[in-house]
Amino acid sequence: MTKRILTGITTTGTPHIGNYLGAIKPSLELARASEESFFFLADYHALIKTQDREKVRSSVTEVALAWLSSGLDTDKSHFYRQSDVKEITELNWILSCITSKGLMNRAHAYKSVISENTIDPDKGVSMGLFSYPVLMASDILIFNSTHVPVGHDQIQHLEMTRDIAVRFNHIFGKVFNLPEAVVQKKGTTVPGLDGRKMSKSYNNIIPLLSDEKTLKKSIAKIVTNSLEPGEPKDSTDCNVFKLYENFSTEKDQISFKKEYADGISWGEAKKKLFLLINAELEPVRDKYYELESNKKFVNDLLEFGAQKVKPIAAEMLERIRELVGISRIS
Ligand code: TRP
Repeated sequence: MTKRILTGITTTGTPHIGNYLGAIKPSLELARASEESFFFLADYHALIKTQDREKVRSSVTEVALAWLSSGLDTDKSHFYRQSDVKEITELNWILSCITSKGLMNRAHAYKSVISENTIDPDKGVSMGLFSYPVLMASDILIFNSTHVPVGHDQIQHLEMTRDIAVRFNHIFGKVFNLPEAVVQKKGTTVPGLDGRKMSKSYNNIIPLLSDEKTLKKSIAKIVTNSLEPGEPKDSTDCNVFKLYENFSTEKDQISFKKEYADGISWGEAKKKLFLLINAELEPVRDKYYELESNKKFVNDLLEFGAQKVKPIAAEMLERIRELVGISRIS
């Protein structure tokens, strides 16, 4: 079977280097090695998180620019907006009708919102948040994807996607293959400025598409201990070192570790980190500036992407509608 990789990125907030390292870079590498790849802007997923129209709108642009600037090749990969492919939301309903509520009750995404007590008291848990794994399953299954690059937090959603696919196949006949999650190897969590996982919700990000000065400023804010220059430092459990690890070779890490032991100052350590990250992000930034000034081009690319994938989705949906009995009277 053709290897078809697919991944979605929820369009909320400013893309940060955690997204770049955890999702964009490994996905693009995988795409280069795959026959077919699908990347999409999960803008309907964004509505789960915010009702701020401007935020939803600007995030789509930012995320599109992040992927394109990082090297997504739209000749080789399908790149589209989820909302342009209406078949996805139609499938979402069909799959909702065969998905048990009990399965959704177990979803971490909504459970963590409850346990962290971050629910808006006026709204409670929205149905969108509760049933979001079904929308995700629809994104994946409409294209019969085989491999789905995701972060650790999404493994459960892939299991749910498979559960839903198995159930559909069992009731209506085998239509869906069972997609596999492709997860970054363990230990690659990208720490944010405060050491917790880099996340928009923790407000601890280093933005991906910033200018040099902003990048330097962000890095200066990374929390360290208060050891003085000259005092030996431990690289384990150090936020600066952990970020360094994500961009460097093993050889460089060994020598950086030695500098820690020799008492490098935090200012120097951060400068080294800055130079390393900046070197990697420079071409991304240049491409970003180029695209940023030509939004029409970006829109056209997305439009073109949607036109390419829609017939595939339409054919799949037609098959599914027939199977569940939603077809012309005959
Ligand atoms: N839920 C994913 C996230 O928050 C984004 C996403 C939406 C996705 N649909 C998808 C990822 C389908 C992979 C496949 O990261």
